[in-house]
Amino acid sequence: MATNITFHPGSVNIEERVDLLQQRGITIWLTGLSASGKSTIACALEQHLLHQHRFTYRLDGDNVRFGLNKDLGFDEKSRNENIRRIGEISRLFTDAACITLTAFISPYRADRALARKIHEEAGLNFIEVFVDAPLEVVEQRDPKGLYRKARAGEIQEFTGISAPYEPPLNAELHIKTADCEVKEAVQMITDYLLEKGYITAGHG
Ligand SMILES: Nc1ncnc2c1ncn2[C@@H]1O[C@H](COP(=O)(O)OP(=O)(O)OP(=O)(O)O)[C@@H](O)[C@H]1O
Ligand SMILES: [Mg+2]
Repeated sequence: MATNITFHPGSVNIEERVDLLQQRGITIWLTGLSASGKSTIACALEQHLLHQHRFTYRLDGDNVRFGLNKDLGFDEKSRNENIRRIGEISRLFTDAACITLTAFISPYRADRALARKIHEEAGLNFIEVFVDAPLEVVEQRDPKGLYRKARAGEIQEFTGISAPYEPPLNAELHIKTADCEVKEAVQMITDYLLEKGYITAGHG
């Protein structure tokens, strides 16, 4: 724990930044089982928003584990720390006025609640999107062959098989990817952002 540290505020406040950049940040937190479609939807959404000249960036589970979180495993404590760090990183991106897309299984409710709290305490927007598909469907998709390995006992603590997934109780959006196309999911999210005034029409 660091001591003798003092927070150094910037010379522009959040409203001034939003006004100057003509964009307000928001963290769009995608949660769901492996292969539910978080990365696929986040990539499509990132492309869609960028093509409208909006500042957006995707933080994705495996990618972050190659760098910042390479010291963490998949036991419960490591997963807690993984999500805590992502919560903090997404707060920084969103504070910088970015539309921040996070694609992490983030299986524990308490961890997602912490990520939300980190944003709310900083006065920043945060929405949770449940990217939902039944276990039978994601096992059938198995794009990385991970469910097959988990069933064979080659991977321990695999969410949905040998580790828990706690579905959101009050996510802002619930997308059932077994029943909709990727582009419909993107549309659902952008419609929600427009409707709630998180983004404004006619950008770019
Ligand atoms: N409606 C849909 N939305 C998203 N993905 C879909 C949909 N229908 C089928 N898929 C397929 O499901 C798979 C989802 O894989 P993806 O890597 O996006 O999952 P993920 O949630 O990011 O998993 P992980 O937690 O392992 O990173 C892809 O192969 C994708 O093509
Ligand atoms: Mg993914």
